[in-house]
Amino acid sequence: MKSVFRAGLFEGKVAIVTGGGTGIGKAIARELLYLGSKVVISARKEDRLQQAADELARYIQPSSTAEVKTVPCNIREEQQVTNLMEETISSYGKIDFLVNNGGGQFMSPVSNMSTKGWKAVVDTNLNGTFLCCKEAFRLWMGDNGGSIVNIIVDMSKGFPGMAHTGAARAGVHNLTMSLAVEWISNGIRINCVAPGVIYSETAAQNYSDPELFQKLNSVLPAKRCGTTEEVAGAVSFLLSPAAAYITGTTIDVDGASSKVSLNYLPPADKCHLPEYTWCGGPNSKL
Ligand code: ADE
Repeated sequence: MKSVFRAGLFEGKVAIVTGGGTGIGKAIARELLYLGSKVVISARKEDRLQQAADELARYIQPSSTAEVKTVPCNIREEQQVTNLMEETISSYGKIDFLVNNGGGQFMSPVSNMSTKGWKAVVDTNLNGTFLCCKEAFRLWMGDNGGSIVNIIVDMSKGFPGMAHTGAARAGVHNLTMSLAVEWISNGIRINCVAPGVIYSETAAQNYSDPELFQKLNSVLPAKRCGTTEEVAGAVSFLLSPAAAYITGTTIDVDGASSKVSLNYLPPADKCHLPEYTWCGGPNSKL
């Protein structure tokens, strides 16, 4: 299968994809490259990034001006984020697209979560995205326009079991709406993509249960997980001129999983929520 978008759609464009060396980020980078963009992939670990870049280079089409470059960056560190933007501009002369995909979390109920763990997840997912947006604006997009896509998660019903990332991504969602208005006169569009359960090898390695994704299939409305390419397609659409009047919005790529509940239920024997009743409800002891 090839990209559904027209060949050469992003020829001459310059994109940054944070978290571009693995999973969803790598799929986004692959599609942008395939469509002709120069793509800077960024993540903390340089060796994995270079490996990904070598693999991604194979998707560059003959006669395309696309290129892939790696710039290691910890998005929590302002100086490193500044360097990511400056390196991109000095290599390719501009930044047309910024895809804020870098992030991460671990499974834990809040009752077991250390303050350090909470802060680390909020720092990466919320503050890291803020820094990338701010520096892209300051160093290029403020004067020249551009398009930003923030990858968040489906946290429409909270995110029990991973509340740190739910809170951080809700922050990114709200930041996106604010920036859509603040930066519209600079010619910048900024939107979110909210993936549901998306299978990738990296995601599977991140969680302790190796069969987690397979088990989730049966509770998903589509009876399957999403693919990284299905997320990349939504990102490519939002970056493209077809989305010229779309800003401040979120596309759910989730096979309607955000429209059903019961993905997470506390163990039945541990539910002790006191009931309030003064005229005798179904569980009244009056
Ligand atoms: N992916 C996960 N954590 C990250 C970080 N701190 N910087 C960049 N990419 C990341």
